[in-house]
Amino acid sequence: MQLKNTQNRFGAIAMLLHWIMALIMIGMIILGLYMVTLPISLHKLKYYGWHKEWGVLILMLATVRLAWRFSNTVPSLPPQMPKWEQLAAHGMHYVFYGFMFALPITGWMLSSAAGLPVSFFGLFTLPDLIAASESSRLLLTQIHKWLAYGLIAAICGHVGAALQHHFFNKDDILRRMLP
Ligand code: HEM
Ligand code: HEM
Repeated sequence: MQLKNTQNRFGAIAMLLHWIMALIMIGMIILGLYMVTLPISLHKLKYYGWHKEWGVLILMLATVRLAWRFSNTVPSLPPQMPKWEQLAAHGMHYVFYGFMFALPITGWMLSSAAGLPVSFFGLFTLPDLIAASESSRLLLTQIHKWLAYGLIAAICGHVGAALQHHFFNKDDILRRMLP
């Protein structure tokens, strides 16, 4: 298997980043939605800590992934695919890149606004992005939550489209993102 993408399929690096990040981001949504419902406890704090460090990992992986995408060809979509669908697919991929950065950054900002540090697996602590402020914390929490809801909707559309291509159009859109 090739490391780099070709005109026809994604390479090993793009696939690895896609599936690892998909797994972590879906886990982050589930953990995020669950942890906010818990009463204040050591468990809740532990889950917040996990959510923050894995979220920072997403931010780092997103940077690597964006750099890799720009230094590679992106496999072209099947020529028989209508123009609007090609535009929608590409547009959606950019929206996903937006989520990969916007979610961790707003999460980091809302932690700073809450006056709480963000540690990266105990290795180092990230600097505060903004000053502590209750009004900023409330606003950023809302933005972070609605971004997450947007991500959930985008994932549903994206998975739906991938399955439609595989089972109805019977093209190799899904296969080319698989080893
Ligand atoms: C891909 C990355 C991320 C995703 C998908 C994500 C998703 C979520 C979700 C679904 C919630 C629950 C929202 C609610 O129902 O109120 C949440 C809450 C939260 N997230 Fe994230 N998050 C991400 C990254 C981060 C990062 C990097 C941080 C901090 C460094 C962070 C900090 C928080 C905090 C502190 C809350 C709780 C807010 C509250 O107490 O109301 N998140 N996140
Ligand atoms: C948080 C979850 C996900 C995110 C953020 C995401 C993001 C992306 C992005 C940005 C691309 C464009 C290629 C690239 O630049 O890397 C892509 C392609 C793709 N994704 Fe996802 N994805 C997610 C989950 C999934 C899941 C669960 C499936 C399972 C069906 C899936 C199937 C695909 C396929 C088949 C492609 C290739 C499309 C093509 O051939 O052009 N993705 N995804």
